[in-house]
Formats: sequence, structure tokens, C-alpha cells
Amino acid sequence: MKLKVGVIFGGKSSEHEVSLMSATSILKVMDKNKYEVIPIGITREGEWYIYKGDFEKILKDEWLPEAKKAYMPSDNGYKGIFTIENGKVEKHELDVVFPVLHGPNGEDGTIQGLFELAGIPYVSCNVLSSSVAMDKVFTKRLLEQAGLPQAHYKVYMKNDITKSLEQTIKDIEQNFEYPCFIKPANLGSSVGITKAHNEKELAEGLKLASKYDRKILVEEFIEGREIECSVLGNDNPKASLPGEIIPCNEFYDYQAKYFDEGKSRLLIPAPLSEEKTEEIKQLAVKAYKALDCQIMARVDVFLQKDTQKVYINELNTIPGFTKISMYPKLWEASGLSYSKLIDELIRLSIERFEENRSQSI
Ligand SMILES: Nc1ncnc2c1ncn2[C@@H]1O[C@H](COP(=O)(O)OP(=O)(O)O)[C@@H](O)[C@H]1O
Ligand SMILES: [Mg+2]
Repeated sequence: MKLKVGVIFGGKSSEHEVSLMSATSILKVMDKNKYEVIPIGITREGEWYIYKGDFEKILKDEWLPEAKKAYMPSDNGYKGIFTIENGKVEKHELDVVFPVLHGPNGEDGTIQGLFELAGIPYVSCNVLSSSVAMDKVFTKRLLEQAGLPQAHYKVYMKNDITKSLEQTIKDIEQNFEYPCFIKPANLGSSVGITKAHNEKELAEGLKLASKYDRKILVEEFIEGREIECSVLGNDNPKASLPGEIIPCNEFYDYQAKYFDEGKSRLLIPAPLSEEKTEEIKQLAVKAYKALDCQIMARVDVFLQKDTQKVYINELNTIPGFTKISMYPKLWEASGLSYSKLIDELIRLSIERFEENRSQSI
């Protein structure tokens, strides 16, 4: 019996395109002798479809004309998704779902809540840890509470920024030096992020971030190297070898991440001493545990140039998943191939599901 796996791609967030790239890689590599794959597409408007055509059309974003409108009931016990054609309902059973969705509505606990209600195991952190990791402010607070090192920060509300931009700028200038980073609390892929070198850029950055969120994070600039670590597991998570990103732009912005392919460089593994490697791996696991993550997350850190101190930047619970993405690449370098990694992710999701089921609520 093959395991029926729903691979979900697209989604409403601004990282829709990134999801198409990640999901296409996963769909291509999944062992079709082991898995019956059910590709499920979510449009930018949030409509669900089942798509059984050529995977390349997902990558090119040309999948919709061949897709069938689908509905996933929240009923615990239905365990599937259905399509309706000419008044006839067709059920597609699901043993597990893999939401390959980045950003809000996919990585933030919302869709995870639907899978919880529907009683379907899913490949991602649970509702709480997904939401917390998506919110840079809550992440900071939990890391702080766990005593983990991170850049100095302060939170500003859009409401206050709109009421008095001048006052906000004054407060930021009292608390931070230039350059500083301005980020909306709830996005990913560097969308809405500014590195401000002066008052003018700060004002523009605050306005930009306010377009995306009501909570804005201002952070001290950590000059140094960008290191990432892949973490995998439920109760006993393991960290991969760390990797390094050398961005082609001044910082690792949206353009650098996805479109200037080949210009930013990934060093896998990162050239680090054995001690630093170990320190970063341990901190990554601590951060993972502090946010109560399960299944997987990529933990991103900065290694400060002058002090060699490690600062945790953020956790991505559904990291980029193309064949050349850091998360799978780091596991490959640590001895776990891309297809074995997918097997392991699915196994961990079912393991967690069984464990939760054995607990009474
Ligand atoms: N405090 C900081 N110091 C130095 N660079 C930073 C800092 N915060 C963010 N950056 C740069 O901006 C990029 C995006 O910021 P990040 O917080 O990782 O947001 P996202 O969730 O969009 O990836 C980072 O990869 C890094 O290049
Ligand atoms: Mg990042």
C-alpha cells in the first residue's frame, strides 16, 4: 500500500513563486513506488485545486487551467480532499500532507490548524510553534526568555508610527546606531525589510514595513557572516552541518535570494572551526527547542566579524526546498540525501500524529 501524500503548493502569500519552486523539486524527487502523490495547488486568491498534470507546469505557474476545484473538510475522520465534477463528488484520501508553503497562511499555523481539525498528519511544526516562528517579535521574546543570544531590538506599532513618524525616528535614533534594520514582524523572504543608513532611509523603511504589518521590529545591525543550520526531529532534534550565505547584494534581500541565481554563493559546509561548528549546531537545537519546534526548521544565525559571537536571527519552519536550497543541501552534506530527507520528514509527521493521538484531550 502506497502512502497517499498531499503536496500543497502556491498559497496567498507574497512567497507564492518560491513555493512553486520548492514544491516542484519535492514532487519530482518523491519516490513514486512508495508514495501516491496528490498535488494540491492554492491560488493567490486562496482557492484550492487538485492538479494532476505535468510538474513543470507548476514551476512555470501554468497549472491552473488543468486543475480541478477542490475542498478540504475540517471534519475529523474524512481524511481527504474532494472534487466535484458534473454533480459527482470524488474523494482523494490523504494519509499525510506536506504544505510546501512559505509565509503567512502556510507557514504561520493557520493551515496547520486545519490539518489538526481534519486529523491528518502534516509535515511542519505545530500550530503554536509555526505561529511563533513566523512572528519575528514573538520569536525574539522566546529566545530572550531562553537566554539565547540575538541582536538588540525594539518593537514599534504601525499606529504610533503613523501618528508620529518624527517621534518614532527620535526614539529609534536614541536606541540604535545606523545602519539598523527595519522589518515587518510577519513576513519572510526579506519582503518589506530595509537596512537604513540614515534618517531618510529610516523614514522610508518604517513606511514600507507598515504596509505589511501592524508590528514593526527595529534591530541593531550585526556585521558579520550569515550562517544557517538545518534542524530535524521531534523530541530529539539533530542539527546538520552549518552552511554559509554570501549575498550578492548589500544584504540577503528578495532579489538576491531568488532571482540573482548563482550570484549569491552558498558555502556548504561553512568554513568554520570544529568548535564554532559545534557551538552553532548546539545553539540551533536550543533555539528549535525554545520555540517548541517539531519535524523541521532552518535556524539562521549571524557570526559577528569582530567578536566571533553567534547571534540567532530567525527560524524558518518551512524553509526553501528546491534542490539547491540550503535546508536539503545541508542535510545532503551531513549524509542524508534529498529523497531520504523527505522520507524522514514524512515519518516524523506520522510519529508525532500517533503520539498526539495517544494523549487524551
Ligand atoms: N540585525 C541584522 N544584522 C545584519 N543583517 C541583517 C539583520 N537582520 C537582517 N539582516 C539581513 O537581512 C536578511 C533578511 O532578514 P531576515 O530577518 O532573515 O528576514 P526574512 O524572514 O525575510 O528572511 C538577512 O538574511 C540578512 O542578510
Ligand atoms: Mg531570513
